[in-house]
Amino acid sequence: MNEFIKKSVQSLSAYVPGEQPFGAEVIKLNTNENPYPPSPCVAEVLARAATESLRLYPDPTSRGVREVVAQLHRCEPEQVIVGNGSDEILALCIRAFVERGGGSVGYFDPSYSLYPVLCAIEEVETRPVELGPDFEWAMPDSYAASLFFITSPNAPTGIQYPKPVIEKFCKTFPGVVVMDEAYVDFAREDAIDLATTLDRVLVTRTLSKSYSLAGIRLGYAVGPRPLIEALNKIKDIYNVDRLAQEIARAALSDPEYMRGISDRIKATREHTANALRKRGFTVFPSEANFLWVKPPGIGAQELFETLRSGGIIVRHFPGLRTGDYLRISIGSDVEMDRLLQAIDQIGMHHL
Ligand SMILES: Cc1ncc(COP(=O)(O)O)c(C=O)c1O
Repeated sequence: MNEFIKKSVQSLSAYVPGEQPFGAEVIKLNTNENPYPPSPCVAEVLARAATESLRLYPDPTSRGVREVVAQLHRCEPEQVIVGNGSDEILALCIRAFVERGGGSVGYFDPSYSLYPVLCAIEEVETRPVELGPDFEWAMPDSYAASLFFITSPNAPTGIQYPKPVIEKFCKTFPGVVVMDEAYVDFAREDAIDLATTLDRVLVTRTLSKSYSLAGIRLGYAVGPRPLIEALNKIKDIYNVDRLAQEIARAALSDPEYMRGISDRIKATREHTANALRKRGFTVFPSEANFLWVKPPGIGAQELFETLRSGGIIVRHFPGLRTGDYLRISIGSDVEMDRLLQAIDQIGMHHL
């Protein structure tokens, strides 16, 4: 223990990111990355990126990116904030909308495990809400908090909550609702209209998943102007670098490419889900680029370790609610076939 470090930081359980193996040849199905390259427009932008311009600071408001996002979602650029990944925007929301001492943050359990970490960093109270037995929406009557994160489709389950349920909650909840739509491009519907029509709802999106750009760290939020202005007041000044802004603008201007690779991932997802069900796995209906599964006749932790020793990395979240399951990111068809082959080999010994 170091007397110079704040008590809240000393006792903090930091976020545990999925493993990023360095240099090893593995099939990586643990952090919901995209198996396909980003839009060819990105390579063109990079080839053209004038090194001369890197002398200059980037636009502090990411104006060019906000304009493309505004066109995409039929809103004004002033209703958009761009962040260093959507993680930055989630942190800003807590800092802007939740009073330390009195304020509180709600989210479903299980959902994105970063939320409680951000709350601990900001030293604000958490009010998690337990999901139902099949990880479905379950909200107690008269529930209140200053801010609620709805992850839809949810991570790590892939389940998307019914839109009417979300809409009713947004209209009655007494605080700010942040809809974390990191995976929504793999889903049937989205809730961006709630952020452009209601006055206390924000939607966050990321280029890390469907746009295959986890490497540049770029996310954004859409919402009512007063809330976006509040977030702008407290963000780092130059929070998104010049190259990330250029690349994001190119990728967002080519939504057809994103839809093409997302369709491929959805087809692979359905094929893999059926193949796993045939092998006795419980597979939850996924609207994301991963599957939440319970293996038959073998513990999740044991299957995780066995796959890992064979060079296939999936994700296991220890814990009461999540420990019996694995989250498997959807890779290419070849990668998923390799996964199924590995499971069949393990099956001979265990199932
Ligand atoms: C639900 C959810 N929200 C946000 C993020 C973070 O996205 P970004 O890469 O834009 O910070 C993730 C990444 O895993 C996620 O699962």
